[in-house]
Parts: sequence; C-alpha cells; structure tokens
Amino acid sequence: MSTDEEIGHRAQSVTPEDRMLIGVAERYPSDPEASARTSEFAGSMKARREFAWRVVAKILSPAPIAAPKLDPDDPDVSAVLPRFQTWYGKTDVVAAFDQLWVGMKAEAPGQVRDFRACEVESVFRWNAEERPRNLSTWNRDVYNARRAELRDIEGAHSLGRNTRVLMSPGFVGHLLRNYRTLAGCVNKTMPLTQPPLSADNHTLCMTSEFPADAAVIKAGWEPDGPAFPAYDTSAADIQSLLATGTWPAPRSITPPGPDAIYTMRALTSSTGQPRPETKRLAALHILTKELRDWVWISLFWSEKPDLDFGADRPESIRALGAPWSHYKLVVTTAYDEDDPDPGRSYTESAPTLADALRSARPTPPVEGSSVRTWASNPYIERDARNGATNCVGCHAHGGTKLSVQGLLADEAQYPDNTRRRVRAAFPADYTWVTSPSGMDLGAIFKETLDGARTPGRLPGTQPRPCGRP
Ligand code: HEC
Repeated sequence: MSTDEEIGHRAQSVTPEDRMLIGVAERYPSDPEASARTSEFAGSMKARREFAWRVVAKILSPAPIAAPKLDPDDPDVSAVLPRFQTWYGKTDVVAAFDQLWVGMKAEAPGQVRDFRACEVESVFRWNAEERPRNLSTWNRDVYNARRAELRDIEGAHSLGRNTRVLMSPGFVGHLLRNYRTLAGCVNKTMPLTQPPLSADNHTLCMTSEFPADAAVIKAGWEPDGPAFPAYDTSAADIQSLLATGTWPAPRSITPPGPDAIYTMRALTSSTGQPRPETKRLAALHILTKELRDWVWISLFWSEKPDLDFGADRPESIRALGAPWSHYKLVVTTAYDEDDPDPGRSYTESAPTLADALRSARPTPPVEGSSVRTWASNPYIERDARNGATNCVGCHAHGGTKLSVQGLLADEAQYPDNTRRRVRAAFPADYTWVTSPSGMDLGAIFKETLDGARTPGRLPGTQPRPCGRP
C-alpha cells in the first residue's frame, strides 16, 4: 500500500480548530414513546423500519454550528452540518476527562470522586470554546484556512474529518459520570453467566444504563481513488451471503459524484499543509439507546438505491438532499426475529424489499422456533463470517477484552455467528468504546486513577469545579 493510500485510509480525529468551528455538539432528540413499543418493533418489520428511517432523519438533519457566530463579519460560511457530524470523537472525550480530573484535583489534591453533573455539563462548552485557543498547538492560520473552506459545501462537510466514531453529548456525559466503575472493569474476566448489577441496570461496569439520548455512530469514509467499491443486496445476494457468512468482494465502479454520495473535500490536511483530500461516506452505523437493547441501524451506499433495502425510503430522507437518497437501510432491535413474515407488508409497495427481507429470515428456523435477526453492512463487516451477524449479539460483549475475530471464530461459545443471546449481563451496555477492541477509554480512565497517567493543566484555562458539597 502506498503512503498516500495509508493516509487516505487512516481515520483522523476532530482537530481543535474544527471543534471550535463546529462548537458544542447537538444533542440527540430521542423519542420518549419508543421504549413502550419494544415488542411491537420486534414483531413487525414494518414498524421497525419506519422507526429506523425516522431515527436516520434526525441523525442527518441539519444542525447549527458555531462558525458564523465566531466571526460575524464573515457570514458566508456554512451554518449547518448533519447532526451526527457535530458529535464528539475520542480527542474530545479525553480532553473533557482530563479537564474534569484536573479540576477535581484543584479542589482537593488527595481526592478521587465521581464528577458532578454540573461539571460534566459545563465541560462541553469549555471543550468547544476555551480549550482550542489555549492549546500550544493552536494555529490561527489553520483556523483561518479551515474557515475559508466552509464557503464550499463539500469543504464544510470535512469538518471533523473522517473520525470513525462520533458520540452524542448524552453518550459522552454518561461515560464521564461512570469513569471510576468503567476503570474498575479493565482486565476483568466477565463470564457469560455473571448476573447484571440489578433489575434495572443490565450492565457490569456502570452505575446505570445509558440515557435514551445516548447515540453513537461509526462512519465508513472511502478515500478517493480511480475506483469505488459497490455491492448488491438483492434477495439472491442475501441468500448467498447467509450461506457463506462472508460478504463477497465488491464490484469496482467509477466513483460517484457529490450529488450521488455524501462527499467531503478538505483542501488542507489536519496539520494545515495544503493537501486536497476527497472522501466519500460509504457506510454509517447508527446506535441509539431509545430501546433497552438499543436500536441498531446501518446505512450503506448503493448504485441502485431504490431497490431492496432502499425501496421504502420515506419523503423525510429525500427532503434532506440528493446524496442521502443513495443509501439503503438495515435495522435490528432484538436478537430474535419475531416477525413471522418480514416481507408481508411490502409485497405490493416494495416487492424487491419484501424478497430481500424474506431471504434474510432463514427457513427452517435455526433452533426450535427461534430465528435470529440479521443486519450487516458490506463496507464495514468485512471479516470472515461477519456478514451473517445482527449487531446486537456481538456488541453484547462490549466492555470485555474479546475481539471480533475471536468471537466469530468460536461458534460453540457464541453460536449463530454471535447472533444468539448468550450473556446474562452486558458489561458496558453494548458499547465497545471502553474496550481494547474499540477506543480503549477504560484503560485511559484506569491509568489516570492508578497514577500511571497525569493529565496536565492547560495554559490559561482554570478548571472550575461546581456544586461543591
Ligand atoms: C462481530 C462483532 C461486531 C458486529 C457484528 C458489529 N459490530 Fe459494531 N463494533 C464492533 C467492535 C469491536 C467495535 C469497536 C471497534 C471499531 O470501532 O471498529 C464496534 C464499533 C461500533 C460502533 C462505534 C461505538 C462502539 O461501540 O465502539 C458502532 C456505532 C457500531 N459498532 C455499530 C454496529 C452496527 C449498527 C452493527 C450491525 C449492522 C455492528 N456494529 C455490528 C463489533 C461488532
């Protein structure tokens, strides 16, 4: 692989200049009625898919950013981004954690306690407004160059760069409030039979489950090149995928233009060097805690976007602009498929979707009367056997030291390619962000608590503890 390709593939992170231009992240507006409909979603593919498209519309809807307000004399910059692109990456979370830690130590050097709700609340504004300016790496020229790029729509889309995982404020706040218990789970073996902490807390590593406005995405950005990968997901394609378990190699096509795929074009690299980079959003995983076992949605780009998993795309998505009508959707909300015929509602209105959904429901049932759900993304779930999965079964192990390859290789322990429910409790409430297989935030929390890592005070910024006891 050439150096250029490596640069294109490597996920970058939200830079301080970008965070300042984006501002504080927009919260996820969760649906308060959703959790009461859990069994309806499990039993009706139609109810499930309609709900999923509504989640997608909220995640993609334009959210205001800080750029126009920062310099009122220069109003010609983009004022909005799709909501998920305003969310926090790992660099934001670690900076917020360090600031809270330093503030706590400033109050009483010997103390270790949970962060107070008001501290967590105020750290987001500090992170977006004060932190960037006080960093030794802060660069006014980079800031101005990035600002100038926001006059062009594809330039604006590059805010936040190709950060792979972005988290809503509700998600990050919960992680920060639980840093001590999450640190306590690092390196623990958590057997499948270990019971949950309580009836209303199915985790092993948090004082409570995530709140309903917790949401997190994982983005698949394809670097620019002469060819672009394309996949087919008709009923026949899904049937052969489930027979082998593994997504086939893609077809190579001419890269789609910005009207056909969400595209970012940065003219400067994250270090401020002029280096044009185009990236296309091929895939988007979306996870929201509106249901107890989360809502699992995945979007993937398609050359034939109105067939099969795109055939029921609602008007609310079309209204968001041309590129967003080129993505297909899969969704699960449970381990087992309780809809006896997931295609039944679509036989007239969307026959290619009806066929594809029916071929994703294995007959005869895998075990007794239970059939596992299916949802997988051809651009992301590339590992062997990772095509015949359902998101929720693998993520149940989030918070442990297990790896994707280890899980998929052990059919005896993790049956049906990880799809079957085998855990009594869910260590980190279904997320991998604290684990070594994911962002490894648990290790950062633990090393800080153990004194192996000492966050420093940032010049010019006084951490402000609030709500003193
Ligand atoms: C076989 C295991 C496995 C399957 C199946 C799987 N994931 Fe993940 N997922 C992971 C791991 C491991 C990570 C962390 C590493 C990374 O970011 O790639 C992750 C990361 C994520 C993240 C970022 C937040 C986090 O928890 O780290 C999201 C969002 C996500 N996955 C959604 C999905 C969705 C939606 C599906 C189904 C379409 C899915 N995943 C299927 C293992 C899996």
